[in-house]
Amino acid sequence: MIENTFAPGLLRDRTAFVTGGGTGITGGIARALAQAGARVALVSRRMEHLEPMAKTIMDDGGEALATAADVRHPEEIERALNETIERFGKLDIVVNGAAGNFLCPAEELSPNGFGTVIDIDLKGTFNVCRAAFEHLKREGGCILNISATLQLLGTPLQLHASAAKAGVDTLTRGLAVEWGRYGIRTNAIAPGPIADTEGFARLVPAPVRDKLQRRIPLNRLGRINDIAQSAVFLCSDAASFINGAVLVVDGGHWLAANNLMSAE
Ligand code: HXC
Repeated sequence: MIENTFAPGLLRDRTAFVTGGGTGITGGIARALAQAGARVALVSRRMEHLEPMAKTIMDDGGEALATAADVRHPEEIERALNETIERFGKLDIVVNGAAGNFLCPAEELSPNGFGTVIDIDLKGTFNVCRAAFEHLKREGGCILNISATLQLLGTPLQLHASAAKAGVDTLTRGLAVEWGRYGIRTNAIAPGPIADTEGFARLVPAPVRDKLQRRIPLNRLGRINDIAQSAVFLCSDAASFINGAVLVVDGGHWLAANNLMSAE
């Protein structure tokens, strides 16, 4: 069991559709939503990424469905949503976590490399929201987009991901305004450096990890569960008047980026 700070059953009788849901941050979110009582559909390109998390959730006593779909293909998303509704009866929560990323200098980034990350992170988020709308508007619900803090500054080697996540923030605010009247809340979480993820292992070179930690005011790296617990909160009725927020969960990291007094 992961550490759960909420009352049991907070999300009882809710159904969540979580893209990127097998691994990393979104895997942790899916598990935490299930521990809070939600039935969870795990969605990503590869079943081998989904099945272990589906088993973990069921071993915890939860309900999970693993269904393969690529967020770049709206017809695959529609099929996965229909399968989810057939299995669980309705849709209440959508978490857009599917993301691609790699480090690359802008001058070496190919148009297709830039476009691939935009297609997955930004257009994929739109595709899923668009396909989920008809289902969410029946009884109201919430969308939670996974953003980042890269785009708040000019982060080197991350032009593609920064552009995509800036777009995700814009989608979050725009949908909050357009779909609020249907009882659909749209929010985002912007995770800082989260140590126990594949993205961190791949994107943050080992020699800079200690320095990175010292630059975080809370003097620790994030954990998947920090994001997962924030996600449970934003998807719960405790957040029922929160709409259009981009919640930064980074220990104060990006705010301190310009702190000339910080330890090197
Ligand atoms: C430069 C690269 C590249 C790399 C791919 N490309 N990897 N360019 N450096 N390391 C380019 C390819 O050359 C190609 O362009 C284009 O991108 C598409 O590549 P494909 O391999 O054909 O695409 P695809 O199979 O769809 O997969 C690409 C990918 C994948 C989705 C980007 O490599 C990937 O990201 N996998 C990891 C998923 C992941 O870890 N997600 C979590 C991200 S963490 P050309 O021109 O050659 O055709 C995150 C948090 C952000 O997002 C904050 C971090 C601190």
